[in-house]
Amino acid sequence: MLRRNYKRRTSSFWHFQTLRDLVSDSMAIDMGSSNTVIAVRGRGVVVDEPSVVAVNKMTGEVVAIGREAHVMEGREAREVTLVRPLVDGVVADFDNTQKMLSHFVRAARGGISHFSRRAVMSVLSGVTHVEHRALLTAAEHAHIGRIYMVEEGLASAIGAGVSVEEKQSAAVVDLGGDSTNIAVVSLGMIVYSRAERTGSNDIDAALMERLRRFRGLSIGAPTAERLKIELGSAIEPADPARSVSVKGREVTTGRPGAIDVTADEVYAVAQPILLKIAEGVREALSGLQPEVVSDIYERGLIVTGGGALLEGLGEFLHRETSLATRVVPEPRHSCVMGLMKLFDSPPLLRRLTRSEPSLLDADSASFEMQ
Ligand SMILES: Nc1ncnc2c1ncn2[C@@H]1O[C@H](COP(=O)(O)OP(=O)(O)OP(=O)(O)O)[C@@H](O)[C@H]1O
Ligand SMILES: [Mg+2]
Repeated sequence: MLRRNYKRRTSSFWHFQTLRDLVSDSMAIDMGSSNTVIAVRGRGVVVDEPSVVAVNKMTGEVVAIGREAHVMEGREAREVTLVRPLVDGVVADFDNTQKMLSHFVRAARGGISHFSRRAVMSVLSGVTHVEHRALLTAAEHAHIGRIYMVEEGLASAIGAGVSVEEKQSAAVVDLGGDSTNIAVVSLGMIVYSRAERTGSNDIDAALMERLRRFRGLSIGAPTAERLKIELGSAIEPADPARSVSVKGREVTTGRPGAIDVTADEVYAVAQPILLKIAEGVREALSGLQPEVVSDIYERGLIVTGGGALLEGLGEFLHRETSLATRVVPEPRHSCVMGLMKLFDSPPLLRRLTRSEPSLLDADSASFEMQ
């Protein structure tokens, strides 16, 4: 009898657990200016798409979001315009940010439920109260019960394997699309942070300008990005003559055209931008307290973000800063992975959350299921 009761109880308990797991998925959201990455506890990264919304100019209606919108870039229909609702990591277009986040969160749920119990989201260190509020409201619209905000630099550091118990400071350089964020963390807190408005997308823009002005070919942003990824290098290219053919519109005739671009040319275009980024890193480090500097000297730089995937970037930053430099294995996902780790330790999640208790708890208390 006892056994049967136990069995019944355990089976209903498991039933309840499964049900709860379905609705109580814990999400980690890294909404960047270039890409949005969402991971769900137990399932890993489930969304990794460009932060782009295609909007009908006349009606304001959303035509496509994410990858579907991104493929339209440079080929969009007359009445369609592409909007990147986040600029420099903060909400620039509130309405489209909301729609985009709701869409991605729905995709992350995979049609299983319409509600998520909690999510942890990264936020840039310097955001204002208004910008913070905009993100929270967007999350509420996406039917997320409780939202925790964690500073991006801290999340990236944790994702890169830095322990929050560690006293020794760690410096994380996140090379994103629009910006480069430098954060120094110690004992799970940000000791220093700084954001530079130069990122990997500036290389794409410089390539477009160079080819238009000096080679007479107008190319689109996706072509420039492909060129950077295929041929770009932060250090002298091993084979400077290696080339790829790029197509676009001839500036003088307006006709379609193609030219060969070499690795050497891409290198020369990228260098000034990379040197500017390195200068920003050096400047950031020069203002730190001596103890912190000595920690960083011992430990070196940790490099994250999509821009870190550029060939030779680690070596370049090492040369420019004279510090040991480590590009993490999956630099595009370190922030979301760091956020995810916080779910393993609820006290840590509470401790690291950007503290604005009135915003965090009041609006969402009714959703709380725990
Ligand atoms: N293999 C690659 N080689 C070089 N650059 C790459 C590679 N893959 C992605 N990138 C670049 O990384 C950038 C996007 O990085 P990431 O996804 O970290 O940006 P983000 O977090 O959305 O932006 P931000 O931090 O500015 O808000 C883009 O400029 C993209 O071209
Ligand atoms: Mg980012």
